[in-house]
Amino acid sequence: MAKKSKPTFYITTPIYYVNDVPHIGHAYTTIIADTLARFKKLAGYDVFFLTGTDEHGQKVEKAAVKKGLTPIELADRVVVRFKDLWQALRIEPDFFIRTTEAFHEQGVQKLFKKLLDKGDIYKGTYQGWYCVSNEHFLAEDVPLEKEGHKICPECNVKAAIVKESTYFFKLSAYQQPLLDFYERNPNFVRPQVRMNEVVSFVRGGLKDLSITRTSVKWGIPVPGDPAHSIYVWFDALHNYLTGIGYDWDLERFEKYWPATVHLIGKDILRFHAIFWPAFLMAGGFSLPGCVFGHGWWLKDDTKMSKSKGNVLDPYVIINAFGPDPLRYFLLREIPIGNDGNFSHEGFVHRVNSDLANDLGNLVHRTLTMVRSYFHGTLAERGEERENDRKIRQDFTGLKEIVYAHYDGTAVNRALEEIWAYINAVNKYLADNEPWKLAKDPGQRPRLARVLYQAAAAIRGVSYLVFPVMPASAQKVWEFLGEKEPIQSRLYSELDFDGLAVGQTMKEPTPLFPRVDLKEFLAEEAKREEAKQTAPSSSPKTEGIMDYISFDEFKKMDLRVALVLKAEKVEGAQKLIKLQIDIGTEQRQIVAGIAETYKPEELVGKRLIVIVNLKPAVIRGIESQGMLLAAVLDDKAIIPFFEGDVPPGTKVK
Ligand code: ME8
Ligand code: MG
Repeated sequence: MAKKSKPTFYITTPIYYVNDVPHIGHAYTTIIADTLARFKKLAGYDVFFLTGTDEHGQKVEKAAVKKGLTPIELADRVVVRFKDLWQALRIEPDFFIRTTEAFHEQGVQKLFKKLLDKGDIYKGTYQGWYCVSNEHFLAEDVPLEKEGHKICPECNVKAAIVKESTYFFKLSAYQQPLLDFYERNPNFVRPQVRMNEVVSFVRGGLKDLSITRTSVKWGIPVPGDPAHSIYVWFDALHNYLTGIGYDWDLERFEKYWPATVHLIGKDILRFHAIFWPAFLMAGGFSLPGCVFGHGWWLKDDTKMSKSKGNVLDPYVIINAFGPDPLRYFLLREIPIGNDGNFSHEGFVHRVNSDLANDLGNLVHRTLTMVRSYFHGTLAERGEERENDRKIRQDFTGLKEIVYAHYDGTAVNRALEEIWAYINAVNKYLADNEPWKLAKDPGQRPRLARVLYQAAAAIRGVSYLVFPVMPASAQKVWEFLGEKEPIQSRLYSELDFDGLAVGQTMKEPTPLFPRVDLKEFLAEEAKREEAKQTAPSSSPKTEGIMDYISFDEFKKMDLRVALVLKAEKVEGAQKLIKLQIDIGTEQRQIVAGIAETYKPEELVGKRLIVIVNLKPAVIRGIESQGMLLAAVLDDKAIIPFFEGDVPPGTKVK
C-alpha cells in the first residue's frame, strides 16, 4: 500500500542584501521562520524552510566600491556572516540560496524569456526618480523639493533621476486579476490591516513596471540583450522558485510549490503582495498561501537599520547568554505583526523573571530533589490525587491551545500560555511542599508522586517550547533521561504520562543564568564609548568583515622601510614611485599617494611595507611590495615612524 504522503509546509524569509552584516532585525524574521518550521515538523508536516541572500543590484554594487571590493568579493564575505549567525542562533534552514549561483541566474533568465515571449514583458523607455536605498522607482506624485530633486518618502534619502531604455512588465494588466485574487483569498496578506493597505494601493491603479536597468552592471543580464540587467526585485523574488528546485530539481519544486507562507518585514510588503503574485500569474504558477508582514524592531523609537547606525549586534547578546534568551525575548515580547522597542532593561527583565526564575528554578529544584531523595528514579510513586490530576489534565488543554497559537503565528500567545502553566506547576510544588514530605519516610510514595507530576510537566513544557528554544529544551529533555531527540517525537504523540516511571534523571546544570542589569548596562555603556572613540568603528568606516587566524596574519611579512628616493609617475595623477631600503635590500614600489604627499616630503621617512606581497606591474612599472596607509575619502595617509627605527625591523 502506498504510504500516505505528509502535507507540506514551505516557509521563506526575505533574502537579505549583502551590502552589510546582519543585525537583530534580520535575526528576528529568521528566528520566527525557524520557530514555525520546527513547530510544523513536530506537527507532522513535510517542511521546507528557505532563506538566503540577495546579492545583485546597485545597493550591493555601491557598498562594494566603498569597501574597495568587487561585488562578489563583498558578497562572499557577508554571506559567511549570515550563515554564522544563523548557526549561532540554532537556525536550521533546509536550504540557503545565493542569487549569484548559476542555477538561480539561469532560472531567472528562463522566467524572463518566458514572459517576454508571451508579451507580458516588452521593451520601451523609462524616465523616473530612483531610490537606491531600497532599489525602487518613486511614485510620480512624490513632490519635487525646492532644490529640484525628489526625496524618497519611504527611505528619506535623495532619489536620482534615471532615463533609460528598459523592459517593462505589464503590471497594469494584472490590476483586476489581483483584486479578484485578493477577494477570493482574504487571508493572502496578514495581518488584516496590511491586506487593506495592499487592496487600496492596487485599487489606486497599477502602472507597468520597469524591470531592467542599463546603468546597473551588477545584475543578471537580459537574455539576448546583455546591455540590460534584470532589476534586482525581479531577480530576487524568483528565489522562492529557484530555491526549491525550479529548473534544476523538478520533483522537489513540484512537491513544495506553492509556498505556504512568505514571512517578511512590512517594509517590503508591496513587492511581495503585488509584484510577486503578478509575476507568478504571468508565469502561469499557482500562488502562495500567505504573505505575512511582521513589524519592526525599533531602538529609541526608530526602525533599526544600518543606514541609521542604530542597530544592535546580536552577538553581544548571544555571547553573553547563548541563543535561546534572544530567541525567547524577540518572540515573547510582542505579537508578530506589531512593532517592538528593544531595550536592555526589557531584555534583562524577561531573562531573569521568565527564564531564570520561573522555568530555570522549576527545573532545577525539581530535578535536584529527584536526585537527592530518589537517586534519580521515581519508581515508587503513589496514587494521583485531585490536585495532581489537575496538573496532568491542564497539560492536555495547554497542548491544544499552544498548538492553535503556533499554528496561527501567535507565538507570543503560545508562550504566555506555557508560562501560565509553568507558574501553576511552581505553585503546585509550593502547595505540596515536597521538602517537608521528604522528612517523613512514610510519605515516600506521596513524595514520588509530587515530583513525578512536576517532572512530567517539565518534560511537556520543554517539548512545547522547543520550537522557540531548541537548545535549552533539548537539554532539559536530556536531564529527564529522555534518549531520543525532541524532534523525533510527533506533537500528537506527546503525553504527560510519557515520562517513563523508572527512567533515571540526571543532575541538572544551570539553564539560564540570572543577569545583573547594572553589570549588563555598564558593559553596554563601555561598548558604546569604545564605538565612539575608536575610529575603526565610526559609522563612516566599514565594519570588520571576517576574521583571519593568527597563522594567516603571520604569513604577512611587514617591515620598516626607509624612503631613499621618490618621484611622480608620468601621466598618472595619483602614483608615486619610491626606492626604499628594507634592511636586506633595496626595492622599488609604486603607491597611490600623490594626492596627499609630495615626493620630496617622503624622502628620509620610515614607513611600513609588506615585503612578501606578489610583485605587481602598475602602469608598466614593477612594484615590489606595498606600503600601508589609512584611506580617508580616497586619500592615503601614511603612518610614519617617529624615532630611528632601523630599516628591515619586523612589524607584527
Ligand atoms: O529588503 N525589524 O533585504 P534587507 C524587523 N533583499 N525586521 C527587520 C528590521 C527591523 N528593524 N530590519 C530588517 C531586502 N528586517 C531584500 C529582500 S526578498 C525577495 C528581497 C528584516 O536586507 C525584515 O524581514 O533590506 C525585512 O523585510 C528584511 O530584514 C529586509 O532585509
Ligand atoms: Mg532594507
